[in-house]
Amino acid sequence: MAAKKRVLSGMRPTGRLHLGHLVGALENWIKLQEQYQCFFFVADWHALTTDYADTSQITDNTLQMAMDWLACGLDPAKATLFIQSHVPEHAELHLLFSMVTPLGWLERVPSYKEQREQIRDRDLGTYGFLGYPLLQSADILIYKAHFVPVGEDQVAHVELTREVARRFNSMYPPAVPRGRRVFPEPGALLTPTPKLPGLDGRKMSKSYGNTIDLGEEPESIRQKVAGMLTDPQRVRRNDPGRPEICPVFGFHRRYSPQPVVERVDRECRTAGIGCVDCKGLMLEHLLPVLAPIRERRRQYEARPQAAWEILVEGSKKARRAARRTLEQVREAMHLKFDWERKRPAARAGRKP
Ligand code: TRP
Ligand code: SF4
Repeated sequence: MAAKKRVLSGMRPTGRLHLGHLVGALENWIKLQEQYQCFFFVADWHALTTDYADTSQITDNTLQMAMDWLACGLDPAKATLFIQSHVPEHAELHLLFSMVTPLGWLERVPSYKEQREQIRDRDLGTYGFLGYPLLQSADILIYKAHFVPVGEDQVAHVELTREVARRFNSMYPPAVPRGRRVFPEPGALLTPTPKLPGLDGRKMSKSYGNTIDLGEEPESIRQKVAGMLTDPQRVRRNDPGRPEICPVFGFHRRYSPQPVVERVDRECRTAGIGCVDCKGLMLEHLLPVLAPIRERRRQYEARPQAAWEILVEGSKKARRAARRTLEQVREAMHLKFDWERKRPAARAGRKP
């Protein structure tokens, strides 16, 4: 059997995750772990590029996020789950890449300009922030990943990664005659933008305060759903509604069986069903999906040590893979030293 292709992705530790993360990324990761050799990591250094001024929450955020991953079904027996800063080789590769990457490549990345304009409460005129996508390139290439599952906003970063790989490969051809280039060029596996809206119809996001969190208690979810916006034209019970603009219907589409979706669609338009009943019906299908996640999360909360152990073990495993790549990188760049003979290492494949 051919070796499984490698998949890598990371998430910045933002703390507890919500349904948007499950639908927009985790469900995809959970599928991928069945088919590929997967590396999934907590991008804690990436969090520092914007949140360097207050790092007090970073450890807890890492743990909270890892518990959500595990609760949703990421499985350490199938995928390597680790913490970026526990594999310092990422930083070495980032440094080496920084030597060969033209500044213009980084200044051109769309997220650089956008974020600097949008995020006004912090000074993002830092070296680290400019290098954000190059650190990401190191994350990806150090595992020689073939595929990188990401959302639309990250595609430019994978593009840059391909350029960096190409430049490195051509500047530093491998030592072994007719050897293989050091880095494969990875491809983005675009995760479609989730159809699931936030509680107010905008994109689900912590900063909008419109989320349902993974592991959230049913009572709290009920309250949030009771307060959800519906079609503003349905002022009275017998006003007909427009499900296509209603976030509650967005949830039905994602979680209710097809006949229920069709019934709600029809009866909303004819005022056959009221919004309160419609929301109750939606909860009947949403809550059972969240129950097992909540249950597994409780188990990790009772023993956070178990989640830490998984991350520590995963980091060791990732580190072994990262070291192998760096050996090849150092060799290709003539940075290897043979300590026994006290001279630069003979390049593999050549007679000493
Ligand atoms: N930049 C990514 C994000 O904000 C996180 C990330 C860091 C990442 N390194 C990565 C994603 C490597 C994929 C591959 O979502
Ligand atoms: Fe939304 Fe349902 Fe009310 Fe229609 S009946 S507006 S779909 S909550």
